[in-house]
Amino acid sequence: MKEIINIKGLKYTYPDGTTALCGIDLTVSEEESIGLIGPNGAGKSTLLLHLNGILRGKGQVQVLGLEIDDKNLISIRSKVGLVFQDPENQLFMPTVFDNVAFGPINTDLEKYRVEDSVRKALEEVEMEESAQRYAHHLSFGEKKRIALATVLSMNLEILLLDEPTSNLDPRARRHLIKLLKGFRVTKIVAGHDLEMILDICNRVVLLDQGKIIANGESKEIMGNKSLMEAHGLEVPLSLL
Ligand SMILES: Nc1ncnc2c1ncn2[C@@H]1O[C@H](COP(=O)(O)OP(=O)(O)OP(=O)(O)O)[C@@H](O)[C@H]1O
Ligand SMILES: [Mg+2]
Repeated sequence: MKEIINIKGLKYTYPDGTTALCGIDLTVSEEESIGLIGPNGAGKSTLLLHLNGILRGKGQVQVLGLEIDDKNLISIRSKVGLVFQDPENQLFMPTVFDNVAFGPINTDLEKYRVEDSVRKALEEVEMEESAQRYAHHLSFGEKKRIALATVLSMNLEILLLDEPTSNLDPRARRHLIKLLKGFRVTKIVAGHDLEMILDICNRVVLLDQGKIIANGESKEIMGNKSLMEAHGLEVPLSLL
C-alpha cells in the first residue's frame, strides 16, 4: 500500500514549556484506519494538530508526499480534514450552513455543488433541518455533529478525528461509526471510546507522555491488560 503519512523524529513543546511530543516515528498507508489511544495528556491531539500544519514541531512530517511548509499548506488542507476535540474550535461562522459550506467554498466549488455538498454532509450527521440555525445556539452534541459535517462536505483524502463520538447520543454514535467504516479514505481516530476505535481501526498506536509505547493490531494491543493498565487504560469489554 502507498505511504500517505510519514513522521520522523517529531518533537513539540508548547510555548509555556510543556513538552507534548518527544520523538514520534509513524508511517500510515493509504486507506488505513489508525486509532490513537493513550491517557489524558498523552499527546494524541497534539499529534493530530501536526498533520494539517496547525502546529509545527521539530522533525519531519510528510503528508501525501508533501512536507508541511507554508508553500504546501493550502494544498494539504484541501485534502486533509481535522475534526477538533472541541467543536467550539471548529465552528466560527454564524450559521450551520456557513460553517459546513466554508470548506467547499474555499476549494472553489460552484455554488450548486456547494449547496449539494452541504446538504449531503448535514444529512450524514442527521442535522439537515438545522442548516439555517445559529451554530452557537446548538447543544454540545449537535455542535459535534456539525463539526463533523464541516469535513464531510469536502472531498478529502485523509480524515483526522479527535474524539469524534464524545457527547454523541448512542444512536448518533452508532450512525457515525457506520458512516466512518463506509469511507474508503485514510483515517486517524483519537479517543477514549475504545469500542468505537476497535470497530473502525485495524491498527492502533498507544501514546503516553509524548512517546509511542505500542503500535500494532488493535485487538492485540487493546486486549493486553497489563499494557493497557500501565498506561491508564482498560481492556474494552468486548475483548474480555
Ligand atoms: N495549548 C497548550 N499549551 C500548553 N500545553 C498544552 C497545550 N495543549 C496541550 N498541552 C499539554 O500537552 C500535553 C499533550 O496534550 P494533548 O492535548 O495532546 O493530550 P491528549 O492525549 O489529546 O489528551 P486528552 O485525552 O485529554 O484529549 C499535555 O501535557 C497538555 O497539558
Ligand atoms: Mg486530546
